[in-house]
Amino acid sequence: MNPDSIAWKVAEKAHEAGATLTLTNTPVAVRMGETNGLAEKLNTIVIAADATNVEDLNNLFLKSMEYLGGKIDFVLHSIGMSPNVRKERHYSDLDYNYLDKTLDVSAISFHKVMQTARKLDAINEWGSVVALSYVAAQRTFYGYNDMADAKALLESFARSFGYIYGRERHVRVNTISQSPTITTAGNGVKGFDRLLDFAERMSPLGNATAEECADYTITLFSDLTRKVTMQNLFHDGGFSNMGMSLQALQQYEKGLHKDCNCGDEIPADGEEHLYD
Ligand SMILES: NC(=O)c1ccc[n+]([C@@H]2O[C@H](COP(=O)([O-])OP(=O)(O)OC[C@H]3O[C@@H](n4cnc5c(N)ncnc54)[C@H](O)[C@@H]3O)[C@@H](O)[C@H]2O)c1
Repeated sequence: MNPDSIAWKVAEKAHEAGATLTLTNTPVAVRMGETNGLAEKLNTIVIAADATNVEDLNNLFLKSMEYLGGKIDFVLHSIGMSPNVRKERHYSDLDYNYLDKTLDVSAISFHKVMQTARKLDAINEWGSVVALSYVAAQRTFYGYNDMADAKALLESFARSFGYIYGRERHVRVNTISQSPTITTAGNGVKGFDRLLDFAERMSPLGNATAEECADYTITLFSDLTRKVTMQNLFHDGGFSNMGMSLQALQQYEKGLHKDCNCGDEIPADGEEHLYD
């Protein structure tokens, strides 16, 4: 986590709105990164946890409740990582151990967070759980690789667990499907600068920033959205309901009469289509 991270902005906004909270990240990220600096700024503590490790999560919830003096009102899952993307594996040549890791870190960790919280009865009635997703869960995006499958699973967990948690304890569970955003995770996606530009041109309201995502997340933590649950909520300036925009079309036309090798099935250098 760093100042660009969506979770960083959500923590700042929650603090501004008067919330008391605890922060977490993997033990390595806590040691090497900037999470402790944010904790100092927000006058709180960091509890290191690998979100794929149920023991760590148990400790995270117990220590959080101890520090906060009671049950928790809101939880943010803001985690994504794919070794297949990192190691530049093509989607038609995935390493399955890497795929297991992608799904565990980016999606199953969300189930683990909710299962652990429920077993400990760590979340207050009408509490709110939010995870961050991307539209590649529904539609195919060049370069998103196995993260698309992870996001589809993440959104499914929000529905399936949201049913149980809502019925039993009135806890809300939703995912926010955010615009492409310049962060460490975002920059890992192949052709990210072009994706950002395309989404900007396609969205009538323009791409949503990390800060705007944080504002939206706070509304879902608030009591004003008590009956919103099991939803995947698009926070993307309208992108997800667009087919073609004038701005994108005009840019496309500019390139139409130029030579472009992006249509070849097997480009000469054999590299260009590695992630399509
Ligand atoms: N940046 C974008 O374009 C974009 C768009 C839509 C959705 N999202 C989603 O937003 C969320 C936050 O990403 P971000 O863009 O702020 O990037 P980020 O890289 O700042 O945040 C990802 C965080 O996940 C943490 N993490 C990785 N493995 C972990 C583990 N095993 N346990 C606990 N934490 C772990 C990392 O340390 C990091 O702090 C992700 O779910 C991402 O997929 C991002």
